Amino acid sequence: MASKVKVGIIGLGWPGREHLKGYKQSSGARVVALCDMNTDIAQQQAEEHGIAEVYTDHQKMLRGADIDAVSVCLPNYLHAPVSLDALRAGKHVICEKPPALDAKQAGKMAATAKAGRLTLMYALCQRFSGAAQLAKDFIDKGDLGEIYCGRAVYHRRRGIPTGTNSWFVDKKRSGGGALIDIGVHALDCAWWLMGTPKPVSVSGSAYQKFHHLVPEGTNFDVDDSAFGLIKFDNEATLILECSWALNLPGGSAIQVAGTKGGAELSPMTLFLESDGIQLDVTPQVPQTDAFAGQTGHFVECIQQRKTPVMSAEQGVQLMQMLDGIYKSSATGKEVRIR
Ligand SMILES: NC(=O)c1ccc[n+]([C@@H]2O[C@H](COP(=O)([O-])OP(=O)(O)OC[C@H]3O[C@@H](n4cnc5c(N)ncnc54)[C@H](O)[C@@H]3O)[C@@H](O)[C@H]2O)c1
Repeated sequence: MASKVKVGIIGLGWPGREHLKGYKQSSGARVVALCDMNTDIAQQQAEEHGIAEVYTDHQKMLRGADIDAVSVCLPNYLHAPVSLDALRAGKHVICEKPPALDAKQAGKMAATAKAGRLTLMYALCQRFSGAAQLAKDFIDKGDLGEIYCGRAVYHRRRGIPTGTNSWFVDKKRSGGGALIDIGVHALDCAWWLMGTPKPVSVSGSAYQKFHHLVPEGTNFDVDDSAFGLIKFDNEATLILECSWALNLPGGSAIQVAGTKGGAELSPMTLFLESDGIQLDVTPQVPQTDAFAGQTGHFVECIQQRKTPVMSAEQGVQLMQMLDGIYKSSATGKEVRIR
């Protein structure tokens, strides 16, 4: 049996704590160290979960703790520098979404992981939901035919995240707004169901219309809604809509359509046809814990030297699509991706 992967978690906000709970469900992993600049948070989690080592500085943890891998669950501007520090210290990395502030940073992360022959995975947990996994099984079996159309929607009617030092709404620390924060989840999930084809062009618009909802004195220089159209090298097309604030109902939808059928994740429905009759099939969705599925997969990839389903290279392409929407919005032109 493969030896247990010893893990350190950096950043213990909500996602960091979900990673911790996920690892606890994996027989192949043991969390041995926690790091958060807020000592109280780290200490409290360490006591609750019986973890001996607590750090406030990730560099000290990388040097001092006996770990094979880390979860990077920090604000976006720390994803690339802290993941690079960990990779350079010879640790496997799972990094929260978005992969980085832009595709250039994600490219550096991918190259560093490759040079060190280390696993670098991104935490796009929607791929591990029961509905997404089930839809992917049908797609991979060919039941929906050739997938050529995807729709990724994630709207909040009102929900601009202005807490925690306001880093979410400050472009130099977040990389962007609604698009990079929640649009990334919907885009990634629909793109994965479509088979992660290579993006070739992007058109998009990003808006900021709800400045008045943000507390005075907050630096708010990002989008509160964004819309995009992405074309792929297999001639498939994906339409993306997302918002932190929009005068439409909130909600999400992930839909893909192929030559033989279509799928929608919520509520999980397959759109099929039999002898000319249109069928809406509602399969029983397996109850899964997406975070446990995600950390479990990361551990399995390390142990079995497998490429993760959400690989370092896919992280670069995902960032190219997001960068493309922002650039297209700023220039008013379609952006080609090489
Ligand atoms: N997968 C999901 O569904 C999901 C949900 C929410 C957030 N996220 C992502 O997770 C990341 C963290 O988000 P968050 O809301 O927890 O952010 P946050 O601002 O609450 O920070 C998380 C923790 O990191 C700590 N921290 C900040 N800088 C640090 C440093 N230099 N060294 C050590 N600790 C440090 C903070 O004290 C905090 O406890 C973001 O990238 C966000 O996009 C993912």
